[in-house]
Amino acid sequence: MNHYHEEDILGKAYDSRLARRLLKYLYPYRWTVATSIFLLLLVSGLQLVPPYLTKVAIDQYISTGDGGGLAHIALLFLLVLLFQFAVSFAQTYLMNWTGQRIMYDLRMQIFAHIQKLDMAYFDRNPIGRLITRMTTDVDVLNELFTAGVVSIFGDIFSLAGIVLVMLWLNWKLALVCFSVIPLLFIATMIFKIKVRGSYRWVRSCVAKINAFLQENITGMSVVQIFVEEKRKFHEFDERNSEHLRANLQSISYYAVFYPVVSMIGALATALILWYGGNQVLGQVLTLGSLVAFIQYSERFYKPISDLSEKFNILQSAMASSERIFRLLDTKPEIIPPAQPVRLQEIKGKIEFKNVSFAYKEDTPVLDAIDLTVIPGEKVAIVGATGAGKSTLINLLCRFYGGHTGDILIDGVDIQDLDLGLLRESIAVVLQDVFLFRGSIEENVRLWGKPISKQKVEEAARQVHAHRFVQDLAEGYATPLAERGVGLSVGQRQLLAFARALAHDPKILVLDEATSSVDTETELLIQDALNQLMKDRTCLIIAHRLSTIQNCDRIIVLHKGEIQEKGSHQELLKKRGIYYKLYQLQYKDQLIPREPADQLTG
Ligand SMILES: Nc1ncnc2c1ncn2[C@@H]1O[C@H](COP(=O)(O)OP(=O)(O)OP(=O)(O)O)[C@@H](O)[C@H]1O
Ligand SMILES: [Mg+2]
Repeated sequence: MNHYHEEDILGKAYDSRLARRLLKYLYPYRWTVATSIFLLLLVSGLQLVPPYLTKVAIDQYISTGDGGGLAHIALLFLLVLLFQFAVSFAQTYLMNWTGQRIMYDLRMQIFAHIQKLDMAYFDRNPIGRLITRMTTDVDVLNELFTAGVVSIFGDIFSLAGIVLVMLWLNWKLALVCFSVIPLLFIATMIFKIKVRGSYRWVRSCVAKINAFLQENITGMSVVQIFVEEKRKFHEFDERNSEHLRANLQSISYYAVFYPVVSMIGALATALILWYGGNQVLGQVLTLGSLVAFIQYSERFYKPISDLSEKFNILQSAMASSERIFRLLDTKPEIIPPAQPVRLQEIKGKIEFKNVSFAYKEDTPVLDAIDLTVIPGEKVAIVGATGAGKSTLINLLCRFYGGHTGDILIDGVDIQDLDLGLLRESIAVVLQDVFLFRGSIEENVRLWGKPISKQKVEEAARQVHAHRFVQDLAEGYATPLAERGVGLSVGQRQLLAFARALAHDPKILVLDEATSSVDTETELLIQDALNQLMKDRTCLIIAHRLSTIQNCDRIIVLHKGEIQEKGSHQELLKKRGIYYKLYQLQYKDQLIPREPADQLTG
């Protein structure tokens, strides 16, 4: 399925293009990283010391019965361990500190980028996927920096150190010990290939579960009302079982691999005991060296089996960074102009000149729209569902790019107008009001402009929101849950009006904003709306024609084209689409009945 496809990607374990780009994130912390690598090498070097001390203790002191020297060695042993502990601590802390800083930087960068993306991008990309980019994928990269890249240096260094010391102590015995390495190598290769496949499987199972949960928790009320719980439960069971199978498979590989590695290690120990033991008997090797050898060989296998683990980390990190970079490389379609025109003051003239637009190629939504709205004019847009009314607004606000023709505000093409200024000068109230987690006051004021508490309250009073706010336990300080849960749809609508009024825009856009309030409230806000609309250019989209009769002009949009324009009275006289719409809504009350044939004509 296309949807999960991105999670399936598992490319190369090492991709130099990606690696170079990832290194850039390390750059600001290069000194910390360098220190950390230095400390890591120190830790690896220190690891070589204890077995050697053991050898010295046995050969020089125990065998000669020198108790005083033994005490010295034991003390030295302890000091080395303490020092190793201190260095390890510093190294771990520094590396993780760097990893956390990089994650922080990366998340900030991704979020800043997401904020710039156009609505079309969000139409294409489910929220769950974007969240995964900022959480799971970033975490994987953190692992790369903290457990992966840097400690690979340490592993390789330890290995090299151990090999050299072993060869130096007794090269014949060292070679005997190394004879098991091919076995280890083969085991690791097989494991690597197996784990790679099952890792990919687990990943895509997790993505499927996440997508399923997101959809089904959001749509829980629909699931419940249509009594779909059982079916959805089974669907979830399928996904969950697959997840279980994938994980069990992965676990079984690990369960085989680690015992195999320790068996190979035991085999090496056996070889050392046998061959080295004979050498001790033949007085070629000291007992201390034999013991040291056994200790070294034990330390030898850990870095090797670790390396295969690191390989997995590297591989998933490459895949994650690929996904993150793809997101970061997505060019926003809405690019703020390089040399923005900064008008002193927006007066509010809107012009659409021969504007056509399609969300998807081949399905035109708007066709050659020509419309001029002079400052302060109130224009209503009516038309059937899907006619393209909201699309007109989306283009005006530059939520979507890619239209042909020109859209001008005060004579300046909106693509040349400072994007912030453009959006600041427009307030949009939609039917579906979005409220943030925060108090009522904050939701009216929002966080950008300094708007006083009085102004918030004043705005709320004007749109008759004050009454219900006062009835709330904490008034304007009442905290709202996410998306405004806890308020009725109509109440949210009133808050949206207050928000628009408080921000005092030059251009006001209402998209079916009054359809969620009851008739009584509608009458109340009708006069509030008149206040709100005063001295502003207004575009009002409404299905209920009663709300727009006072507009200066009414535009009838039909299948993406402007079919009629004029005042309420003019359009009624025209007996066209508007007349029909009007009649359908009010045939019983407002206008005298017409012969039936005119309804269809
Ligand atoms: N984000 C989108 N991606 C693709 N197509 C879209 C998108 N939004 C709207 N459309 C399509 O564009 C057309 C016009 O939609 P629009 O939302 O402008 O209609 P509308 O006039 O506002 O309708 P309504 O009265 O139901 O709100 C519809 O056919 C719709 O399917
Ligand atoms: Mg609409």
